[in-house]
Amino acid sequence: MINDINKIRESFPILKNKIQLSSCSQSAMHVDVKESINKYMSSWEENGMDWGGWMQACENARSEFAKMINADPSEIAIVSSVSHGVSSIATSLTDQKRKKVLVADFDFPTVGHVWLSHQDKFDIDFIGHKKDGFIEAEDYDSHIDDQTLIVNTSHVSFYDGFKQDLKEVAKVVHEKGAYLSVDAYQSLGQCPIDVKEMDIDMLTAGLQKYALGIPGIAFLYIKKEIADRMTPKITGWFGQSNPFAFDIKNVDYGGGTKRFDSGTFPMINGFAAEAALKVLNQYLIGDIEEHLKLLSQIAIEEAAERGLMVKSPNSLKSKASNTAIYVENASEVEGLLKNEGIIVSARNDVVRIAPHFYNTKDDVRLAIKELAKLVN
Ligand SMILES: Cc1ncc(COP(=O)(O)O)c(C=O)c1O
Repeated sequence: MINDINKIRESFPILKNKIQLSSCSQSAMHVDVKESINKYMSSWEENGMDWGGWMQACENARSEFAKMINADPSEIAIVSSVSHGVSSIATSLTDQKRKKVLVADFDFPTVGHVWLSHQDKFDIDFIGHKKDGFIEAEDYDSHIDDQTLIVNTSHVSFYDGFKQDLKEVAKVVHEKGAYLSVDAYQSLGQCPIDVKEMDIDMLTAGLQKYALGIPGIAFLYIKKEIADRMTPKITGWFGQSNPFAFDIKNVDYGGGTKRFDSGTFPMINGFAAEAALKVLNQYLIGDIEEHLKLLSQIAIEEAAERGLMVKSPNSLKSKASNTAIYVENASEVEGLLKNEGIIVSARNDVVRIAPHFYNTKDDVRLAIKELAKLVN
C-alpha cells in the first residue's frame, strides 16, 4: 500500500503548484532524476571527461531495469527508443521458416510502422478489439497458425489503458510455437512485470511514461537462449564482446542480449534512467498498481456522474492507470486545462487522465470536474 503519499509528493516539486496527470505521456520530475542529470553535467564541466563513470551509470540503469522486470542484466540491451528495440528484433530474425507476424492494432503505431517496413520478409497481420469489447487472450488463438513467427502486442494500450493478461497471452502464443514480443512502454513503472513468470520472449520499454525518466533511452529484453541464436543487424562496437578491441575486420558479438547494444550509450539519459528506476525499485510495483486501481475507480465514477463517456475498460482487472475520456476537441481541451494548472494528455478524440503513485483522489476528481465544465 502507498501510505506515505505526502512524503512522496515532496520529491516532485511541480506538485506544489500543479496537478500532473500525464504519466501516459510524461510523468512528473523527481528531484533525484534532476540531481542525477546535474551530476553528469558537473562531471563534464569539472572533469572534462569520465567515460568510466558515465558508462557505469548506464550499466546501473540496465541493472535497475533488469531488476524491475525480473531478468538478468545480461538479458538486457540499451537502445534509444521502443522503435529501435522493435527494429532490432525485426531485422535480426533472419532465416526463419515461419513468415507471419501478428501485431495488435491497438499497439502504438510505431510498432506497425517497423513491422510493415519488413513486408519483403514477413507477412504482417493485425488483431484488434472485438466489436463488443476488448480482446481476450483466447482471441489470439484463431489468428495464429503454424506459420506465425512472432506476436507483437502491448502490455497496456497507449490510447485507452487496456491491460492484457500477458501470462495467458504467452500460453496461447507458445502453444502455437510462436514468439511473444511485448511493448511495455505504458506499463513499466505502474504494473508489475515479471518476464520469467509471464514467460515473455522479448520486451521493450522506454522511460518517459510511468518510469519517471526522459526520452532518449529505452531497454530491450530478449530471453537469453533466444538472443544467443539471433544475429543483430542493428549493431555497432558496443554490441561486440570487447568494444575496446578496436578490431574493424571482425564481428564478434557479445553474449546474451547485450549483443544488441549498438553505439555509444546515451550517457545523460542513462543518468536520468538510473535515478528514475532506483526511485521506483524502492517500492513494490504491486502497491503502486493498487493505488492506481483506486484512482481508476474514482475516475470512472466521477466521469459517469458528470455524464462523460469513458473509452477505457470498466473492469479494473483489465485497466491500468489511464482513464481515456471521449472529447471531440481533445487537444484544445488539453491546452485549456493546462492553463488551469492541470496537466493531462490528449490523443485523437480522448483526454487521458493518467495518474501515478504521487497523485491523490482529489487530483483526479478536480481534473474531471474541470474537464466536464469545458466539455459541457
Ligand atoms: C506504448 C508505446 N510504445 C511506443 C511509444 C513510442 O516509442 P518510441 O518513441 O520510444 O519509439 C509510445 C509513445 O507514446 C507508447 O506509448
